Amino acid sequence: MTKATDSTSQTLAALGVASADAVTARFAALRAEFDGDAGGEGAWKALHDSWMGRKSGVLTRVTENWLKTATPALRPAVGKCLNELRGHVEQRLAELQRAAESAADEAALARERVDLSLPGVTRPLGSRHLLRQTFAEIERIFLSLGFAVVEGPEIETPYYNFEALNIPEHHPARDTMDTFYLETPRQNSGGPARLLRTHTSPMQIHTMEKQPAPVRIIVPGKVYRRDNPDATHSYMFHQVEGLAVDTDITFCEFKGTVEYFVREFLGPKIRTRLRPSYFPFTEPSVEVDASCFVCGGSGCRLCKSSGWIELFGAGMVDPAVYGFVNYDAKRLSGYAFGLGVDRLSQLKYGIEDMQLFFQNDVRFLRQFP
Ligand code: DAH
Repeated sequence: MTKATDSTSQTLAALGVASADAVTARFAALRAEFDGDAGGEGAWKALHDSWMGRKSGVLTRVTENWLKTATPALRPAVGKCLNELRGHVEQRLAELQRAAESAADEAALARERVDLSLPGVTRPLGSRHLLRQTFAEIERIFLSLGFAVVEGPEIETPYYNFEALNIPEHHPARDTMDTFYLETPRQNSGGPARLLRTHTSPMQIHTMEKQPAPVRIIVPGKVYRRDNPDATHSYMFHQVEGLAVDTDITFCEFKGTVEYFVREFLGPKIRTRLRPSYFPFTEPSVEVDASCFVCGGSGCRLCKSSGWIELFGAGMVDPAVYGFVNYDAKRLSGYAFGLGVDRLSQLKYGIEDMQLFFQNDVRFLRQFP
């Protein structure tokens, strides 16, 4: 079958077109062919080239072969029909182009679509260990009283861990504290012995060596002892040491500070009591007890029917300690305390076995988010 567009390579005269009606019919055939080709949306570009192509597109051929060669009588009809056809072709091609472009856009959107309703990749979030939370709580309370937080080394010499704290070589207090001694190259070549600190108290000495009074510090940290693990013991545990030294510190300030801490930490209804005790670096020394927060003091399993729970050791700094750091014992006075962080956490949160702190069982950890 010959196509209408084939006729555009010939002149109208050659085609035997002699009337305006015949011209209109020829253009109608062209338009019908164009509309047939333009039915789909796929190849608008090819359609554009074959109809609007400058050199040999159908419209160019019509212009060259039909319009320019038309007899003066037919020329107006050819011109009019050509303009109409051009307008029609241009408009339709523009539509096809728009349709093709938006189809491409939609395909790209579909390809790149992110489904926001899909659940994301969930990474399990950790939380602060209960001991860290307890450290933070203790630090908050003492910071509010004007204490500074300092930290110190876990490896010490016997001088700082014992002697300067008024615990001489053969003092019985060392028996419960003798600990892990380290074999370091330095020590093998004649240096002082090294050991894992048994308490955070050595930082009392380091701090007073470094700065003059007044001193108000707390020292959170890890300590080590040769203990076998059980519900209340571990070879590694945690303490917060406290030290306050100034020119006018009395036993009253000491007692008030301790009571304030206990009430902030355990609750406003808790009462405290000081029991005489002994530590080589404090004089007098006390054990700080709290009224039992389970039974309120009437006696229960936790307080072993006594109504009181032993919390921590403390006391007024023994003047002998000032001698080791060149502080003037006549002018200065102060107090110190040593909080067992594991013990305080166990009491506050009702944890019977201290080992739970170190086993990292998430079923335990999750209970303290
Ligand atoms: N260092 C002691 C210990 O670990 C605890 C202690 C008691 C520290 C009384 C003090 C204190 O500062 O005054 O057993």
